[in-house]
Amino acid sequence: MALERTLAILKPDCIRKEKVGEVLRRIQDAGFQIRAMKMITMSKAEAEGFYAVHEDKPFFDDLTDFMSGGPCVPVVLEKEDAIADFRALIGATDPDEAAEGTIRSDFAGSIQENIVHGSDSPSNGQKETGYFFPEHEIVANTANT
Ligand code: CMP
Repeated sequence: MALERTLAILKPDCIRKEKVGEVLRRIQDAGFQIRAMKMITMSKAEAEGFYAVHEDKPFFDDLTDFMSGGPCVPVVLEKEDAIADFRALIGATDPDEAAEGTIRSDFAGSIQENIVHGSDSPSNGQKETGYFFPEHEIVANTANT
């Protein structure tokens, strides 16, 4: 097991539905430490940059409109095996396919408006964390801080 960081984004639908508290509660109850967090509204260009890996996909324009269409909450999370464990906690991208009891199964309305993003690999966790937070904005790994 390795201590890993993942970048979560509570998406604009999560803020609109006022589920920020509930989603963070589930994340903390699952053993993730919050190392950095802020509320921002991404520009279209920032959303396009974040999701550049999907730029050839048919949903890219709609996705980046949605992600820049309201405030979101990027969060740096740390835990042993954070990447895999966070993806298990949130469930499949499509809420109709997400396992019962997962965050997306319980709160998401569609494959696009799926409440929360999570990094899909340790290297993307690093890269995505750096997209929103310089290292000095990430708090040290001390117990329960
Ligand atoms: P996320 O985990 O943030 O990573 C890419 C996002 O693209 C994904 O969550 C969804 O919000 C969105 N997405 C993925 N597949 C589709 C799809 N088929 N149609 C619309 N949006 C999608």
